[in-house]
Amino acid sequence: MCGGNEQTEAFLRLVTVERGILLSGVTLDHVSKQFGNVKGVEDVDIAIQSGEFFTFLGPSGCGKTTTLRMIAGFYYPSTGRIHFGSEDVTNLPPNKRNTGMVFQNYALFPHMTVFENIAFGLQVRRMARSEIKERVERVQRLVRLEGLGQRRIDQLSGGQQQRVALARALVIEPRILLLDEPLSNLDAKLREETRFEIKRLQSELGITTIYVTHDQAEAMSMSDRIMVMQGGQVQQIGTPEEIYHRPLNRFVASFIGETNLWEGVVTSISGAEATIRIAPELELRALIKNASSRCRLQSGEKTAISIRPEAIVEVSEGAEARDNVVFGTITVAEFTGASVQYVTAVGTNLLRSMLISQGSRVKQHGERIALHIPKESIYFVG
Ligand SMILES: Nc1ncnc2c1ncn2[C@@H]1O[C@H](COP(=O)(O)OP(=O)(O)OP(=O)(O)O)[C@@H](O)[C@H]1O
Ligand SMILES: [Mg+2]
Repeated sequence: MCGGNEQTEAFLRLVTVERGILLSGVTLDHVSKQFGNVKGVEDVDIAIQSGEFFTFLGPSGCGKTTTLRMIAGFYYPSTGRIHFGSEDVTNLPPNKRNTGMVFQNYALFPHMTVFENIAFGLQVRRMARSEIKERVERVQRLVRLEGLGQRRIDQLSGGQQQRVALARALVIEPRILLLDEPLSNLDAKLREETRFEIKRLQSELGITTIYVTHDQAEAMSMSDRIMVMQGGQVQQIGTPEEIYHRPLNRFVASFIGETNLWEGVVTSISGAEATIRIAPELELRALIKNASSRCRLQSGEKTAISIRPEAIVEVSEGAEARDNVVFGTITVAEFTGASVQYVTAVGTNLLRSMLISQGSRVKQHGERIALHIPKESIYFVG
């Protein structure tokens, strides 16, 4: 089958079969959103499993918030249907969907205390005062805000405000937790701590979580699956590993982590192996791994390949006889302690490599280097 990823397809089949009994899975069935002439989101078709940590990842304006807002009910889709489990919620207003949402700017009430902010959603539901107190205190313990109930929001640190926003979303015991760039206001260290905290909470509670970010490291470290978006369209859906190691196109390859994108022409195909001419003196052999590129590739055609810097290995100069050894001159050398990163000029192409530091001498700018590119580490990206 062309254009697929076997692991993801198997997973989706499972989800589809079980969809009827998953109470809080989320399905978007060919959902689009048009704002006048602007296409906000086009044909998003996903099945998020109950209990899954699912992330929308992509650059600014790609449609992440619009998709999340349609799930929350703040926007209605122009076309397509949305289901929570087997329930069609496409036309339900937000307050009937029982989702907990953390907005990008938190949208806390600054004049209210921590307790009042967290309790707000329960008061709207006219819950008994004693139950509200019990629930708020429970969720305060969960997000580690004990003892701060009477503080005003403007007397809290950024990290504490973030936890109030999370507590306010969790206290209503939502079916689905929706988080729109919840860490964007925090400094780098706090971001890292808080992302583990959110992940811990999510797996403890087992709650279906949809997380929006433009930060690929955040997406990779937290998610069960990621949907990469660009220009309102889905580019790829897969586990962090699939997205990183088997990008389906150039955009995904370059957006997720660092990579070398080289253009070339397929000169021959033999079984599951192809030879690509990058330059007159530079040919590489590559394994054709993903089914989609095996369908697409043809001898004589232009193609692009992605090579991750960490897949490249330094070899001795006498290694000419091996396949896929390239020679070049180092233009940038960076020693980071754990690794040595080189940018090497290979003819007119640049090759970025990241080599594990093993105590040998770090080469300098201007020195020659021989690098081996394993054929199984070359990915065709269209
Ligand atoms: N209410 C609206 N009216 C008109 N256009 C809108 C509206 N909301 C979003 N858009 C447009 O839809 C597209 C997607 O916007 P969206 O807010 O979903 O992007 P995003 O991925 O969340 O970006 P960011 O990372 O900057 O938050 C953009 O082109 C945006 O300008
Ligand atoms: Mg947004």
